[in-house]
Amino acid sequence: MNSITANDCIIHFNETCYTSLNQYIQNNNFSKIFILVDTNTHTYCLPNFLAKLETNSSIEIIEIEAGEINKNIDTCVGVWNSLSELNADRKSLLINVGGGVVTDLGGFVACTFKRGIAYINVPTSLLSMVDASVGGKTGVDLGNLKNQIGVISNPDMVLIDTVFLQTLPQNQMKSGLAEMLKHGLISSETYWNKFKDLSKLKIDDLDDLIYESVLIKKAVVDEDPYENGLRKTLNYGHTLGHAIESYFLTNPNKTSLLHGEAIAIGIVLASYISTKLVGFPEETTNGIKQLFGNYYGKVDIAKSDYPSIIELLKYDKKNNHGNINFVLLESIGKPKIDCLVDESIIIDSFKFYSE
Ligand code: GLY
Repeated sequence: MNSITANDCIIHFNETCYTSLNQYIQNNNFSKIFILVDTNTHTYCLPNFLAKLETNSSIEIIEIEAGEINKNIDTCVGVWNSLSELNADRKSLLINVGGGVVTDLGGFVACTFKRGIAYINVPTSLLSMVDASVGGKTGVDLGNLKNQIGVISNPDMVLIDTVFLQTLPQNQMKSGLAEMLKHGLISSETYWNKFKDLSKLKIDDLDDLIYESVLIKKAVVDEDPYENGLRKTLNYGHTLGHAIESYFLTNPNKTSLLHGEAIAIGIVLASYISTKLVGFPEETTNGIKQLFGNYYGKVDIAKSDYPSIIELLKYDKKNNHGNINFVLLESIGKPKIDCLVDESIIIDSFKFYSE
């Protein structure tokens, strides 16, 4: 698989990852190499990664607790302190080995420590391979509000080695798949159609599908790295999806949802709204509801949950001038950004999802 360059970041796949990494380390005279892992990737991914790393530089491992609940500024303070205590300097390298929490948080730590040190992402979950580690979005949550703090700044390199997916639980695979389905919906009917019968997908198809997803994301972030227009389309399903994810994360009566599980709901809701407001074919929305329902099941969202979820929409990062801006679809591959949606239609979309 050929490497892909997105903005100023190079993305390597499978067999080329480690030769490129070792060459990069050899070419840059890093004072120290730090590897950030979480409690899961420390056990399941780090040994494999270290076995491929060839360097005489000193290596320090920094571990954080796994889980979205730890993607916050307190965890950053812990990592900044570790870097400081372990004598990291501006010529140090941080390698983030993990899912979206590790790559987002580690990227933010690297971009801010001593005003910025070099970093590399080694995504180990499907979600971080196809989405989180491409495009330079780094950051953390603010309380239960998703990704409110952060900067856009690219890693020097992303290494996508799909061998890490072998240890990934099924629910995490499904979570990542939601972003791939979204890539199809916003940009390519051909890609979307490859997922139409998920039961026919084979594990051998995965590498090519991941590669295509990265190409789709690359095309978007190359054109609009700072999300002034086109990049907003990557947020299809995320306006309500993020609000649902935040609500479920902190509501003691709810089991928290993985990012992709919440986005899967958000995509069904956004598709309904698209049909009501911008002519997205009703039949396609019904097909999306059925496909996502079969694959992700139905999450119980009660009428009494609607107001709190809708309240959370005001923190969406696409908002401006007090407006909540949705991404909708006119057809598959034809997104429309900055759409205003009445609350009554949002409520109808919840009813559509639940019925
Ligand atoms: N995950 C959406 C983006 O990178 O813009």
